[in-house]
Amino acid sequence: MRNIRLSDHSIYIEDIWSNFKDLIENYDHIVVLTDINSRAYCLKEFEMLSELKKFDIITIPTPEQQEKEGTTGENLSVYYIEQFKNQDSCSKIFDRLLECGADRHSLLINLGGGVICDMGGYCASVFMRGMDFIHFPTTLLSQVDASVGGKLGINYRGYKNMVGLFRNPIGVFIHDKFLESLPERELRSGFAEIVKHALTLNYNLWEQLKEMEDIEISNLLPLIEKSIIIKKQIVQTDPTETGKRKVLNFGHTLGHALETSFLKKGEPITHGEAVAAGMAMECYLSMLHYRHDEDWLASILVVLKRFFPKIDIGDKMVLDLLQLIRVDKKNKAGVPHFTFLIDIGNVEYDQIARAKDIRAAVEYYRKNY
Ligand code: GLY
Repeated sequence: MRNIRLSDHSIYIEDIWSNFKDLIENYDHIVVLTDINSRAYCLKEFEMLSELKKFDIITIPTPEQQEKEGTTGENLSVYYIEQFKNQDSCSKIFDRLLECGADRHSLLINLGGGVICDMGGYCASVFMRGMDFIHFPTTLLSQVDASVGGKLGINYRGYKNMVGLFRNPIGVFIHDKFLESLPERELRSGFAEIVKHALTLNYNLWEQLKEMEDIEISNLLPLIEKSIIIKKQIVQTDPTETGKRKVLNFGHTLGHALETSFLKKGEPITHGEAVAAGMAMECYLSMLHYRHDEDWLASILVVLKRFFPKIDIGDKMVLDLLQLIRVDKKNKAGVPHFTFLIDIGNVEYDQIARAKDIRAAVEYYRKNY
């Protein structure tokens, strides 16, 4: 196990606490941004192992935001936290940063899942035109995806990650023990991104995942490391997604539409559940595109089905999905763009599908998954 070096920062997997101490030693003022669950389940361990004595803390949602939503307590679902990835929370973060005297020489530590890493990084990047930040991801999804590659931002008017920018943290720290506090559904969510990295870019990792019966936290760290290395190779060649990075969008065109549609319906599903279903549908489109036979598709779906239960897509939602994919960030002139699987570990991005094939992919999933 080795730490992973990118052009301007490292992702630390070994000796994380001593590396952390070295990296933060020159900052006089440290602020920790966290969410209500990470505060409850990870903050104590973080404080103990980091030996960080003095820091200010910002928790999202704030008590005021929770009161407005009529919710109390901890152990709130990740999709509950997702609804606070917005401008209101950014204002709360800026207010608190000002209140505690942070300036552009302070350091923000994002201790949380994708919402905290994306939104914290975004706020740090624009606060006083930019302060340094560190990601300390506490979910599997944020360890293998959100904290790698510099994508930052918030949701806007119900559309995911509509406002944001690319900027790297000064360091990312992977502490796999945090995963022990995650609900199983959330663990599966992150695992979907590992599966995506394997399917699209690494045949050997796919072969390894195929042998797995289920997800076990004690065996995850080497998979997390491999997954990060795969993503690193892509984001280093194309940091701002002008080309090759689009391969990482496999499963996300239909996946994002599903996620948005379920959220609108008031029945949120996890990002990974949406992406897993999106990958199944986009495998179907890939089968049509490259004239694979159905056995090819079945050999992939059998693995997806082992880790990701079917999600129930009603008749009305099919129409909604077809509408939603027309307002995706990946579109060009309103035409949805896909990444297709030529075969395991080999993909093509910027692909277009006919509306009738997209509908057939959704119907295939509904009937056969
Ligand atoms: N989650 C896909 C990317 O970072 O590009």
